[in-house]
Amino acid sequence: MNALLEPDEQLETIRVRGNGPLEGTVHVPGAKNSVLKLMATTILCDGAFELSNVPDIADVAIMGDLLAAIGVEMTRPGPGELVLVNTGKITPVAPYELVERIRASINVLGPLLTRCGEVRLSMPGGDDFGARPIDMHIAGLEAMGAEFKFSHGYLEARADRLHGADITFDFPSVGATENLMTAAVLADGVTTIDNAAREPEITDLCEFLVSMGAKIDGIGTPTLVIEGVEQSTLRPVRHQTVPDRIQAATYLAACSVAGGRLDIVGARADHMTMLLDRFANMGLDLTPTDTGIVVASDERPRSIDVATLPYPGIATDYKPLIITMLAVADGVGIVTENLYPGRFRYVEELQRLGADVRTSGHHAVIRGVPRLSGAPVKAHDIRAGAAMVVAGLAAEGETTISGIHHIDRGYDDLVGRLQAVGADIERD
Ligand code: UD1
Repeated sequence: MNALLEPDEQLETIRVRGNGPLEGTVHVPGAKNSVLKLMATTILCDGAFELSNVPDIADVAIMGDLLAAIGVEMTRPGPGELVLVNTGKITPVAPYELVERIRASINVLGPLLTRCGEVRLSMPGGDDFGARPIDMHIAGLEAMGAEFKFSHGYLEARADRLHGADITFDFPSVGATENLMTAAVLADGVTTIDNAAREPEITDLCEFLVSMGAKIDGIGTPTLVIEGVEQSTLRPVRHQTVPDRIQAATYLAACSVAGGRLDIVGARADHMTMLLDRFANMGLDLTPTDTGIVVASDERPRSIDVATLPYPGIATDYKPLIITMLAVADGVGIVTENLYPGRFRYVEELQRLGADVRTSGHHAVIRGVPRLSGAPVKAHDIRAGAAMVVAGLAAEGETTISGIHHIDRGYDDLVGRLQAVGADIERD
């Protein structure tokens, strides 16, 4: 159970009935996986930050509560806007009740440590898809001079002032790249991060930091070079959050299984190159435009094989959507998960809808069936929950999805947006 939600919210469901083609325009809001990191980074300097294109999602509210406990006050002056005021009175403690609710709470570690010289952080939570260690975050910060201690569920770190270091990752971790980068901004000297993650959300964070006065080279490449600056040289800024490529992919998947034509405004084709290539192979007609992507589909998807990889590969967060498309595709597809071995929990739910999916280790074999059959299913995490909604669009009869507080963590009015393009969907 999600402790901070009222019991009624836990019981809410989404009902969806497959009713044929979707038609119209969908606006894609800013990315959860960027805005939460931008918010955490406001710890670095005093003053009022303004963020736009902010999704209206539960995780933003939770991060806002965490930042309020630390000393950054959040207000929402209008739709899609956030103002974050860093009061300068920063408490470098991230309490359990808030940290355990979102994985991105780990992103306060680097900023708090580099700004305050100490931090006490409860171990992070987030989606339930297997162990998510933070050893790379810790090893990198240790290389920069931090000392860590773990006691009573809390991670404690100290460093008078972090110093620059040459760090090479075994694996391009998104969170570790972000934490080390934000820490390095105020470190003494130059930090080089090799094999850094280069997701569009990382680039967004780099651009945010540079506009604040940070010195970062190699943005968008696997080698980031950060030259530390004095705290007094940083300034608060206005920034527009990068669009959410996972939400954009959700509407592409919806159009693929339901058919029709959608103008997905805000989607950045250049952030989704490999996925769009795969979706074209599956039969989607895709046209990048000045404002987004137009997608059309008038046939059953075709099966393909897909493996998840760090960016620019196919993101693991797309995978539940891809498996759902393959569940109703013509042929057999194999999906290989290379990031999170345990991330197949939703397959049991798809099987309840009549999908023919078998998993073994980190592979899934999907034999497409012409149509799924509506049934009650559960959302186990954000992306799996959205995939259940897409599956409902591909099913005959009614699909009822419970556990939708997971969907609310990352999707900004998924139901309303799908209703507006003709889907038979409602929230009860
Ligand atoms: C972020 C995204 C998540 C996405 C993931 C991969 C946020 C809030 N979440 O998660 O939606 O699925 O990127 O694109 O932005 N690992 C270690 N040690 C570490 C760090 C990571 O072993 O110190 C492992 C993880 O357990 C996992 C893999 O590396 O198997 C990927 O993790 P990482 O890239 O760090 O993902 P997150 O930042 O947690």
